[in-house]
Amino acid sequence: MQDDSGRTRHIWPVEGAARAPFWIFSDPEIYEAEQQKIFRGSVWHFLCLEVDVPNAGDYRTATVGETPVIVTRGDDGVIHGMVNRCAHKGALVCLKKHDNVSRLTCVYHAWTYKLDGSLEAVAFRNGLRGQGGMPEDFDVDQHRLQKLRVTTFCGMVFGTFSEETPSIETYLGPAMTPFIERNLGRPLKVLGTHSQIIHNNWKLYAENLRDAYHATLLHTFYTTFKVNRLDMDGGIMLSEKGWHHISFARRAHLQEDAEYGAAKVHAAKYNSSLAGPELIRAWEEFEDGITHSIQTIFPTMCIQFTLNSLAIRFFAPRGVDVTELNWIFLGYERDTAEQTEMRLIQANLTGAAGLVSLEDGCINEFVQRGTRRSPEAASFMEMGGRGVVSVPASRATEASVRGFWQGYCEIMGFDTQPRAEAAE
Ligand SMILES: [Fe+2]
Repeated sequence: MQDDSGRTRHIWPVEGAARAPFWIFSDPEIYEAEQQKIFRGSVWHFLCLEVDVPNAGDYRTATVGETPVIVTRGDDGVIHGMVNRCAHKGALVCLKKHDNVSRLTCVYHAWTYKLDGSLEAVAFRNGLRGQGGMPEDFDVDQHRLQKLRVTTFCGMVFGTFSEETPSIETYLGPAMTPFIERNLGRPLKVLGTHSQIIHNNWKLYAENLRDAYHATLLHTFYTTFKVNRLDMDGGIMLSEKGWHHISFARRAHLQEDAEYGAAKVHAAKYNSSLAGPELIRAWEEFEDGITHSIQTIFPTMCIQFTLNSLAIRFFAPRGVDVTELNWIFLGYERDTAEQTEMRLIQANLTGAAGLVSLEDGCINEFVQRGTRRSPEAASFMEMGGRGVVSVPASRATEASVRGFWQGYCEIMGFDTQPRAEAAE
C-alpha cells in the first residue's frame, strides 16, 4: 500500500492470504485507512433487522465502522439510512438505541428533520424582531442528514456509503444466498440482544468467526458434549470471491474419537455429563441435517445456527485494539411456545458469557497482546493448503480465513502474491 507521497510503507508477505503480518492488527495508519476504504467503501454493512423498525416513525441507531448512523421507517413504510450527525454543529441527533418519533430533532439547537433525513425546520430561522436569523439565501434542501444507501435481504437491513457497491444479491453471491434464506427467510422474532467490548483489533474477530479449526479445540464444551466436532460430517463453502463463507456440520454423523485422542486435545480428556441436559436438547429443524453452522458476511457479521439457537453477531471497531461485539438471538414468528423456550435455553451456549463462546472474548485479546511489537512477524495459515477454495467434506482448513484476507487486501489495495496451489 502506498501513502500520499507514493512511498510503499506496508508490504504484504509474499505468501499472500496465507499470512497476516502482525502490524495489521495494531498500526494506527492502517486503522485510519480501513475507516475510509472498508467502512466508507464499496461494501454492505449490516445495520439492523427489519423487525427492529416495524412501524412508521421507528428508528434504530447503529454504526458503520466508527460512524454513527440512524435507520428509520418513514410514514410510507420505506426504510431510510442516514448519518447520526446534525447538519448544524455535528451533534448526535438520535440519542437512544431505538424509539418511535414523528420527527428527528437535535437536542442542541432543535433543528428538526423528517424521517427521511431531510431538514424540515430550523429554530429562529427568521430571527426575532426583524434581527438575527439565517441569511435570506438559506435553503433547507441544502442541509440534510447525510444519506446512506440502504437495502434489505431476508429481514436484514444493510447500508453503504458508496454508490459503487453492487446490489446485495450480487454482493452476497449465489453460493451464499440460499443458506441465508434457509436460516432467515421467514418472519423473525427477536428473543434478546446483548453486547460486549472486546480488547482486540476488529480483524481478529473477523478471523475468529471464519476459523472452524479452532472451534472444536478452544471450545471444549462443543467437543465434550459433541455439539460441534471436526470429525463430524461437515465442510466449508466459500462465496465466489472467498469474502463470505459457510461452515457447516451434522451432529448425527459423528465419527471416531481417535483423532482427538491421538492429538492429545484437552477436550478429549474428559468424560463428562451435563447436570442440565435440556441445554442441548434439540429438535431437527431442517431436512439437510445440518445442526451447526456459521455463515459470515464480509466484513463484520455472521449468522449462526447451533442446534436450534439462531443468532446474528455483528461487530465494529472502537479503536485500533477495541471492538464492540453485538449479539441478536432470534426465533421465528411461527415458533411454538415450547420451541421459543428451547431456543432461549440453548442461547446460553453462546453470547458474551456463553458456555461455548466466552473463550472468544479473550482469545483474540491473547493474539492482540502476543503480536504487539512484532511487526516483522506474521501468522501462518496453511491448514488445508494455501488456496481460497471451498472444502466440501472437511473443516480442518483455514481456507475461509484466507478468504477474508483476500477480500481485505483487494479492498485495501495490498499487493498480494498468493501461491497458485489450491487447497485439496
Ligand atoms: Fe470461537
